[in-house]
Amino acid sequence: MKFSVIQGNIVSSTADAIIINLFEGVLKPSGATGAVDNALDGQVSTLIDSGDISGKLGATTVLYSNTNAVGAQRVIIVGLGSALDFDLQSIRRAAAASAAKARDLGCKTLATIVHGAGIGGITPHAAAEAMAEGMLLGEYQADLHKSVRRSKHIQAIEVIEFEAEKVTDIRNGIESGVAQAIATNKTRDLVNQPPNFCTPTYLAEQAQALAESSNLTIEILEQADLEAEQMGAFLGVTQGSDEPPKLIILKHTPDNVDPDAKPIVLVGKGITFDTGGYTMKTGAGMLTMKSDMGGAAAVFGAMQAIDALDLDVPVIGLIPTCENMISGNSYRPSDVITASNGKTIEIISTDAEGRLILADTLVYAQRLNPRVVIDLATLTGAAMVALGQGQAAALFTADSQTLQGLQAAADESGERLWHMPLYPEYSDYMRRSPIADLRNSPNDRYGGVGTSAAFLKEFVADMTWAHIDIASVAWLPNGKAVKPLGPSGATGYGVRLLTKFVRNLI
Ligand code: BES
Ligand code: MN
Ligand code: ZN
Repeated sequence: MKFSVIQGNIVSSTADAIIINLFEGVLKPSGATGAVDNALDGQVSTLIDSGDISGKLGATTVLYSNTNAVGAQRVIIVGLGSALDFDLQSIRRAAAASAAKARDLGCKTLATIVHGAGIGGITPHAAAEAMAEGMLLGEYQADLHKSVRRSKHIQAIEVIEFEAEKVTDIRNGIESGVAQAIATNKTRDLVNQPPNFCTPTYLAEQAQALAESSNLTIEILEQADLEAEQMGAFLGVTQGSDEPPKLIILKHTPDNVDPDAKPIVLVGKGITFDTGGYTMKTGAGMLTMKSDMGGAAAVFGAMQAIDALDLDVPVIGLIPTCENMISGNSYRPSDVITASNGKTIEIISTDAEGRLILADTLVYAQRLNPRVVIDLATLTGAAMVALGQGQAAALFTADSQTLQGLQAAADESGERLWHMPLYPEYSDYMRRSPIADLRNSPNDRYGGVGTSAAFLKEFVADMTWAHIDIASVAWLPNGKAVKPLGPSGATGYGVRLLTKFVRNLI
């Protein structure tokens, strides 16, 4: 999908469809919608008067012009909801709905206005960025393995702005939104990819390809390297699998930044399939576990977007990846393993594996002299029990500046975060093993999201650190109340959050 931004009047566009908008409660449309209404002899006003359209957020209505008063074949009116609730996420949702509608109608070329620039203090740049994100995310489909893939594709979108002085800001906003949405859709592809395709080796190859087509540099630690690093926790998880583990390291090193500047370090859990191991999941519980590399894929996508936007902040992505399988060689409940910082861990549940691969990766992060370490992980079902599916991720951090930065990025991106407590009692609870320094799981299910964070904290030493449990947002099953921007399945959560967090540090 190619975007271009021009100054002009949308009424004269000859695209397959033009997209205009309508706020709830508007009786007489103005602006571009008003101009189209006039050209169509008041058809839009008639629809409003009859109560047939209301401007409900994301609702679409299609009109056809029988004269040449409107140059395009079709007019798609998309609802923006109430002006009082209007924010960047409204723009994304309206844009997503309009792009999906146009795609389903078979439109190849579209023209659209920018929704809502100037409303509630939203700048043209921010509105355009949200619009590009929404359109690309809304148009996404996950038919990776259909023998006949979909033929309906939007090829070109022209963004038409009437006021010449806004065009440059809109062009920049579109460019930035496109980069972030392409990276998010790449993340979705990685997560949607079945686990017999998306192995740790596949993720490493994909990262290699990303490095080759960008300015990112890459290093991959293999099994022997993990052994040399004495990463006993990571190695414990992978030992039941025939697939070799990897620790993928992607680096973004901007030219005009002090080479000694401390990097932001992003860490993503990359379990390409989580059976639970001998503490095995149920069939239903296992069914979505190809998404257990959602953190890894989000870090991958964030690195891709940060490179594409050439942000002047050094960033390193660390992606530990392996499978959690059963075999004669698997780790067992009751095993004791030793992490690379020397701490011993009693395995209570082989299904609490994510924290083990993250433990050694967090220890590794210390040598990178990070400004802040942020890990993303589909770590606990408890995050989903606490926050629901698709509403928010669970954020743990003791650093107020990181908290503020992440919450600002969450507001901007619409990828919500809820701040959770790191009570010392959670840590005491995880230290309650009679035989080792730590246990990897409590023996009850209460406070599971907090105790998992407390376990990770044992491996961060004095680094500034935030942990984001994305189990509640990385994957959306069919038919849930929350409508993602695009189809159910992988959401690509985290790419835009992390990119905006890093951008705001400049
Ligand atoms: N990958 C799962 C967490 C998960 C569950 C993500 C459901 C998305 C949806 C993780 O490895 C896991 O199994 N966690 C256990 C931890 C428990 C054993 C302490 C869980 O949540 O049950
Ligand atoms: Mn598990
Ligand atoms: Zn897992």
